[in-house]
Amino acid sequence: MSALSELNEEMALCEDCELSRSRSRVVPGEGSERAAIFFIGEAPGWHEDQQGRPFVGPAGHFLDELLASIGLKRQDVYISNVVKCRPPSNRDPLPLEMRTCRRWLDRQIEIIRPKMIVALGRYSLAQFFPRDSIGKVHGTARKKGGVIYYAMYHPAAALHQGSFRRVIQEDMLKIPSLLAQAEQVEEAEPQAQQLSMF
Ligand code: URA
Repeated sequence: MSALSELNEEMALCEDCELSRSRSRVVPGEGSERAAIFFIGEAPGWHEDQQGRPFVGPAGHFLDELLASIGLKRQDVYISNVVKCRPPSNRDPLPLEMRTCRRWLDRQIEIIRPKMIVALGRYSLAQFFPRDSIGKVHGTARKKGGVIYYAMYHPAAALHQGSFRRVIQEDMLKIPSLLAQAEQVEEAEPQAQQLSMF
């Protein structure tokens, strides 16, 4: 069994936070264990909770379109979320839930060892750069520990507010050249003070 499948089996039994009581299924993530790009969203919604797969609702359809715009399919990348279980009524994940679930995300990153992590939305960005605002850093990349971190607005933003659609599409189109010129992406300043809050 692959390391990710083993991890997913372990994750399916997780009862570390209250979300385990209301979820239908854990939504571990999907894609290639050897993916160069790891997309990290916020939390599963209703569709994801029903199917046990990430980004399969309307936001996911837009993500599929965005991937296609750079010649990729879901199975070429890895897709997951900051929290692996649906928050009731799709509320925002709580700080304690994100902290508790972080160990799964860290293990996924360890196994996949992506060249690039794409944070989709502010909750995902905050996992890596807690001091940054998505409005300022979307479409920009920094390197930390040899990994490129790239921030984008969450695809659902385009569904709520049409003006985001174009920005998100443009930010997606920058990914191939960033990956190709990985050595030129600058190393980020440490955000030690903020990170210690986690
Ligand atoms: N929004 C997310 O952040 N993740 C999903 O899996 C679906 C919608």
